[in-house]
Amino acid sequence: MAAKAPTFAQRINKGLRRVPPWLIYVIGFAWMGWEFWRALSAIGPYAVEPINVLEREYGLRALQLLVAGLVVTPLMRWTRVSLIRFRRAIGLMAFYFVLAHFAVFVLLDLGGFFDPGYALAQVWTETIKRPYITVGMAALVLLIPLALTSNDWAMRRMRQGWKQMHRLVYVIVPLAGVHFLWLAKGFQIEPILYLVGTALLLALRVDWRGLMERKSPNKAA
Ligand code: HEM
Repeated sequence: MAAKAPTFAQRINKGLRRVPPWLIYVIGFAWMGWEFWRALSAIGPYAVEPINVLEREYGLRALQLLVAGLVVTPLMRWTRVSLIRFRRAIGLMAFYFVLAHFAVFVLLDLGGFFDPGYALAQVWTETIKRPYITVGMAALVLLIPLALTSNDWAMRRMRQGWKQMHRLVYVIVPLAGVHFLWLAKGFQIEPILYLVGTALLLALRVDWRGLMERKSPNKAA
C-alpha cells in the first residue's frame, strides 16, 4: 500500500523542527537593540519624542508576544501546527520586552538614570495616581514568578503547581490589554482589537460543553 502523503500541518511542523527556539531570543534582542539605536540616533519615528516612542515600541512588542503565547495552544488544536517548542522563548521574550519597557519608563522618562531615588518615588506616585500604570504594574509583578519558573528545573519541582501558577497568564494578558486601552487618548481601535483578540483566545480555552453539562445535570442522567 502506498504511504500516506504528509498533511500540510505535518510539513510545516517538519520545517519548524529545524528552527532552534533560541532564534526567538536572537531576533528579539536584536530588535530591541536596533530600536534603541534608532531612538538614540533620532531616526524615523524617533525624530520627535524618542523616549516616549521607544517606551511605546517596547510595550507594544511585549503585548504582541504575550498574545502570541496565547495563540500556541488553539493553533495546535485547530490546525495541528505546533509552536509548543517556541512557547517558553516567546513568553520569556515578552517578559524581557516588558522589563525594557519599564526600564525606559524609569531610567529615561522619569530620569532614574540621573536620580534613581526620585524616579523610584515617582513610580510609586504614578502607580497610585494613574490607573493605567496601576494595571501595567500588576501585569509586570504577576509576570515575574512566571519568568523565574520558566525553566525545566522549576517545572520538575513544582509539578501540578507549575501548571496552575502559569495560568496567571490568563489574567496578565487581559491586564496588559486594559493598560493599553486605558492609556489611549480618545477612541482608538488598536487597543480594542487587542482586547477582543485576547478575549476570543481565552474563550477558545474554555471547555464550554463541559460547563453546559455541569450546569444541567438532568440532561446527562
Ligand atoms: C505586561 C506589562 C505591560 C505591557 C504588555 C505594556 C504594554 C504597553 C503598550 C502596548 C503601550 C502602548 C504602546 C503604543 O501606544 O503603541 C504601553 C504604553 C505605556 N506603558 Fe506599558 N505595558 C506594561 C507595563 C507597564 C508598566 C509596569 C509601566 C510603568 C510602571 C508602563 C508604562 C507605560 C507608559 C508610561 C506608556 C506610554 C504612555 C503614553 O505615552 O502616554 N507599562 N504599554
